[in-house]
Amino acid sequence: MAAASRLLLLLLVRVAATVSFALGLAGRAQLDPQQLLALRALGLGARRAGDPCDADGAVAASCDAGAPFRRVTSLVLTNCSDTTSVSAAALEALAPSLRALAFSDCPAAPPRLLPPEQLAAGLLSFSCTASLRRLSAVWLSRLANLTELTVANTPLATGSPSELAVVISHMDHLTRLTISNGNLSGFLPHHWHCPNLTHLDLSGNRIAGAIPDTITHLGGITHLNLSSNVLNGQIPTHIGDLIWLTAVDLSNNSLSGGIPETFSTLPELEVLNLGSNRLNGSIPPFLSEMSGLKELNLENNDFDGVVPFSARFLSRLRVFRAAGNGKLCYNRSVLSAEVAVGVAPCDKYGFPVTAPPATAQSEKSTADYDDGGSDGDADGGADAGGGPSAVVLGLAIGLSCLAFVVILVVCLCKVCR
Ligand SMILES: *[C@@H]1O[C@H](CO)[C@@H](O)[C@H](O)[C@H]1NC(C)=O
Ligand SMILES: *[C@@H]1O[C@H](CO)[C@@H](O)[C@H](O)[C@H]1NC(C)=O
Ligand SMILES: *[C@@H]1O[C@H](CO)[C@@H](O)[C@H](O)[C@H]1NC(C)=O
Ligand SMILES: *[C@@H]1O[C@H](CO)[C@@H](O)[C@H](O)[C@H]1NC(C)=O
Ligand SMILES: *[C@@H]1O[C@H](CO)[C@@H](O)[C@H](O)[C@H]1NC(C)=O
Ligand SMILES: *[C@@H]1O[C@H](CO)[C@@H](O)[C@H](O)[C@H]1NC(C)=O
Ligand SMILES: *[C@@H]1O[C@H](CO)[C@@H](O)[C@H](O)[C@H]1NC(C)=O
Ligand SMILES: *[C@@H]1O[C@H](CO)[C@@H](O)[C@H](O)[C@H]1NC(C)=O
Repeated sequence: MAAASRLLLLLLVRVAATVSFALGLAGRAQLDPQQLLALRALGLGARRAGDPCDADGAVAASCDAGAPFRRVTSLVLTNCSDTTSVSAAALEALAPSLRALAFSDCPAAPPRLLPPEQLAAGLLSFSCTASLRRLSAVWLSRLANLTELTVANTPLATGSPSELAVVISHMDHLTRLTISNGNLSGFLPHHWHCPNLTHLDLSGNRIAGAIPDTITHLGGITHLNLSSNVLNGQIPTHIGDLIWLTAVDLSNNSLSGGIPETFSTLPELEVLNLGSNRLNGSIPPFLSEMSGLKELNLENNDFDGVVPFSARFLSRLRVFRAAGNGKLCYNRSVLSAEVAVGVAPCDKYGFPVTAPPATAQSEKSTADYDDGGSDGDADGGADAGGGPSAVVLGLAIGLSCLAFVVILVVCLCKVCR
């Protein structure tokens, strides 16, 4: 009996396969009907008769060439209406085949409860940019097989001081992790267990505390972006152990202390942004020996002394910024005002001259201060103060002249009478 039913089943599968093969010749195999329903529920217009696996306005799906039915492997929901909701049923239907799921400008109601188990096991890439009204860290944390996770401009709904650790606690396979402008608070984890991580972008959150020394356990990392948080303390001394780093952005935090010498051991480093912190001490000359460096931003810190770079080195850089360091100056016999934009020239003792710089340069540096002014940095504001006070002085002189002329005219009139 069992054998017979198995035979029947086999026969049915054969027939189905043949039919789908024929369909494949005519056009292509059809999409799994349940997955088609799920796509419709997610906002794929019912009016649309074509193949949903081809790119569409709001929902773009990629499908495999499976038989008897094709199945969705990757799904992107873009610019969807705010009545869209990501139902558990839709996810359940897509789960067996879905490997990549992305939301972009999609203010949909978020998935409830926890992701279906098959989705959690199968999903390799999840991305959410300005989407999903509340995304829970716990929901995300179940997607344990992800290699890429992006959450950008989407507040993560938790409140735990270790929410980042919660999210990635089981994600051992991550290669790229971005949680940017995600209202993430708490601290950086002390333990990382993603040996293959190459990109880490946690910019624009409210992550506090120091950068733990254990960040050097991320041995394969190439991009590190911790900008615009509230990190304090010193830059880890052993950051130079992360020898594959090509971009380091620690800007707009409250980091203090000096630039660690181990940066000099980073052969691949192209971008170093340490702007808008409270770093102090002198700028180490070894930076100019980093032959790959293309962008160097040291603005709005507390560096002092003489800029230790040659014109040759600076002309090689695509970006060099050092304005907004009140005690920093450049040597006029080494650099020109054009390359040391926004930095005061040194007097013969190596201190910034207090006299206003030459006109051509002052224009340039004022523009630069305006640029950085949005950071609300006290240094920039104080230096830019020369502009307004000059205007006030001019206005005062003008008004005095006017008053003098008026008095003169009045006197003359009296004399004439
Ligand atoms: C998003 O959708 C709205 C209307 O639904 C449309 O006007 C707008 O052009 C779309 N934007 C993009 C980038 O597709
Ligand atoms: C991750 O994938 C493997 C197989 O690829 C599977 O055995 C495992 O259960 C998955 N992990 C989770 C947490 O689902
Ligand atoms: C960000 O988190 C804080 C608490 O941690 C919360 O009060 C606030 O509403 C959150 N902001 C958004 C936009 O979710
Ligand atoms: C890291 O990558 C290697 C090579 O691609 C792979 O064999 C290994 O399983 C990965 N490790 C983890 C934890 O994903
Ligand atoms: C770091 O992130 C910020 C904000 O997301 C971005 O503007 C900046 O370009 C990033 N830095 C690097 C080096 O990629
Ligand atoms: C610096 O970070 C603060 C929050 O810490 C943010 O409000 C501000 O926009 C950031 N500035 C820049 C230039 O990114
Ligand atoms: C940097 O500032 C700290 C206090 O924030 C101070 O202890 C240290 O001496 C300063 N270093 C230099 C080189 O000025
Ligand atoms: C500026 O450079 C000249 C020539 O290299 C040098 O003699 C002088 O001491 C330097 N001045 C300062 C303040 O470092």
